[in-house]
Amino acid sequence: MFGIEKPIIQAGMIWASGWELASAVSNAGGLGLLGSGSMYPAELREQIRKCKRATSKPFGVNVPLLYPDIDQHIQIIIDESVPIVFTSAGNPKTYTGLLKSYGIKVVHVVSSSKFALKAQDAGCDAVVAEGFEAGGHNGREETTSFVLIPAVCEKVQIPVIAAGGIASGRQMLAAMVLGASGVQIGSRFVASNEASCHPHFKQAVINSQEGDTQLSLKKLTPVRLLKNAFFEQVQEAEQKGADAAMLQTLLGRGRAKKGMFEGDLSEGELEIGQVSALLNDIKPAAEIVKEVWNEYNALVEAISK
Ligand SMILES: Cc1cc2nc3c(=O)[nH]c(=O)nc-3n(C[C@H](O)[C@H](O)[C@H](O)COP(=O)(O)O)c2cc1C
Repeated sequence: MFGIEKPIIQAGMIWASGWELASAVSNAGGLGLLGSGSMYPAELREQIRKCKRATSKPFGVNVPLLYPDIDQHIQIIIDESVPIVFTSAGNPKTYTGLLKSYGIKVVHVVSSSKFALKAQDAGCDAVVAEGFEAGGHNGREETTSFVLIPAVCEKVQIPVIAAGGIASGRQMLAAMVLGASGVQIGSRFVASNEASCHPHFKQAVINSQEGDTQLSLKKLTPVRLLKNAFFEQVQEAEQKGADAAMLQTLLGRGRAKKGMFEGDLSEGELEIGQVSALLNDIKPAAEIVKEVWNEYNALVEAISK
């Protein structure tokens, strides 16, 4: 469907997945995605052009549909002939038809089989089933990958890409056994040389242990965060009964940039998945793709014997 060699997709991630990471993954035979959610329109255009110069392989753009400049982003993607778009956080009906009329493959990220069916009805070519373990914004259903992947695979006829808690070939194999046709990997690529996030954030990710991430801001937009001072402030506000408006005030503007891009580990928002507990090193993205793929294939071979 995407014209790639390995069904390994590097997730679109705000403040982490620019052209360096996306092109490195695509050059390694996977699919790199630019995370447009933290880019102004002019920057997105620039990033797409840089990515095109850095790779002749297919790459895509992740588009959170709630983004304020969404119409401009969609137009830039069409103008620049980007072949693949992964949409998230919004209604897949809004742009899928338009994008597909330009021959663009459209994949929508879902957190339940109900939303997967909606994406299929909207004409999406595939869905990403993103489990509760995942870093970043998360569904309200809190369904883990182990349950979500087979549930979605049972409901839809289009291919299912598994996401949430996958960082190794072993985990990829589990997802494929559950019915997935490929995997989308986020947190593992945060801890890569090419990720554009701050080195302090990368270091915090590889230092983290089991239990160090938790879903936060549930009354606003649930997001899995690394626990820090900001996370504790939200917890305290929630315990005192803060409503969505109060949480929005506490969140303010630019928290994610402050944490992940500027490296403020205390006051910033640090989005990462549970799987960060299993990560111990920062390495080139191509090496990550190769390791996941080699381990996956070695296990497939061992099992088939
Ligand atoms: C730092 C970070 C930023 C993210 N930003 C986005 C985003 O902008 N759009 C989106 O659809 N998903 C976003 N996600 C979710 C990923 O696309 C992906 O589905 C998720 O990371 C998969 O789970 P994993 O972290 O366990 O690999 C983000 C995840 C992380 C860790």
